[in-house]
Amino acid sequence: MSATKGLEGVVATTSSVSSIIDSVLTYQGYDIDELADNASFEEVVYLLWNGRLPKADELSELTKELAENAHIPQEITDYMKSYPNDKVHPMAALRTAVSSLALYDEEADVMDEEANRQKAIRLQAKIPTIVTAFSRIREGKEPVAPRNDLGFAANFLYMLTGEEPSDVAVSAIDKALVLHADHELNASTFTARVCVATLSDVYSGLTAAIGALKGPLHGGANEAVMKMLMEIGELENVEPYIRKALDNKEKIMGFGHRVYKDGDPRAKHLREMSKQLTALTGEPKWYEMSIKIEEIVTGEKGLLPNVDFYSASMYHSLGIKHDLFTPIFAISRTSGWLAHILEQYSNNRLIRPRAEYVGPDKQSYVSVEQR
Ligand code: ACO
Repeated sequence: MSATKGLEGVVATTSSVSSIIDSVLTYQGYDIDELADNASFEEVVYLLWNGRLPKADELSELTKELAENAHIPQEITDYMKSYPNDKVHPMAALRTAVSSLALYDEEADVMDEEANRQKAIRLQAKIPTIVTAFSRIREGKEPVAPRNDLGFAANFLYMLTGEEPSDVAVSAIDKALVLHADHELNASTFTARVCVATLSDVYSGLTAAIGALKGPLHGGANEAVMKMLMEIGELENVEPYIRKALDNKEKIMGFGHRVYKDGDPRAKHLREMSKQLTALTGEPKWYEMSIKIEEIVTGEKGLLPNVDFYSASMYHSLGIKHDLFTPIFAISRTSGWLAHILEQYSNNRLIRPRAEYVGPDKQSYVSVEQR
């Protein structure tokens, strides 16, 4: 029995939610390029959960349900106000708040399919409310209540700022949400599936997944990319900074991927959005620096940018706080996590692999006095 480090190349389940074949990402058979250019996030949520695109009435019903379920219990808001907010990362706040939400859902442990689908809607609806409420609370502001008349992306921006968002910002966030919604058996999705395969509840699966996404080798990379861009500061500093990091064998955040070796198909969409939005806000330097970093890292190491690289400068241009980049990823990926959780329940078997033992052999117990 020998282990495959990081389970590279191991096929751990069947799934019909999304696929990566020859560097092409599809959700339920639809190419991500086509969805990014045409679909709204709500359409993608319906697609991931139902295996087909919604008809007009189904789409408006889902949009309505998401808006109507967006309120969070006052206790969760009060609890967030009691966090040590000058130190808490929004991903930690989100993880804790999602776990707490289960305490206020009487159906949290009801495991039939309909109850789980209803919880999926409630969770998808409430996650942006938690992220935006926490963001405001830590700035000493009151949370802004969600509006029934706004779509998902617009409501997120509205709750974040308390102002009517621009069409440009809404369409950028909507597209980013579409691009991040699902990604086959990535680390956080696998985490969610392992958790619920014990027949634990949906909230536990989501909480576990948020914890896995938080790490800098996964969803946390987008914030780390922006930190790097801020440290570099100006275009002329890119070359010495990146060459030094590569000489020191440091990882450049936002590059490389376990599965894609010919490039991440999502990156080109985010590159274009970064180009347009940084130009629009009069700060094209973030895009120009990113392009220069890509030239060097790809030239030197053959590594290509992943989804997290250009999303950083794109979100920055929308005026979003850098530590909210990963929570936005979580808002979107919740749709994929929930699709995989529902799929896991529908054809469940406990996920319990083996370990190759490499510890000491044939030890004999020695009493504590004699050690
Ligand atoms: N910068 C510099 N070198 C890199 C990078 C990078 N970003 N990524 C991989 N490498 C190098 C490694 O150092 C290693 O070199 P070596 O063989 O000389 O030791 C080689 O490429 C293989 O890298 P691994 O880390 O073994 O690749 P793995 O498949 O385990 O990791 C990962 C993939 C985690 C994405 C990695 O590329 C990485 O750490 N990237 C930076 C973090 C990041 O951007 N994460 C987001 C990924 S996308 C997402 O999760 C949403």
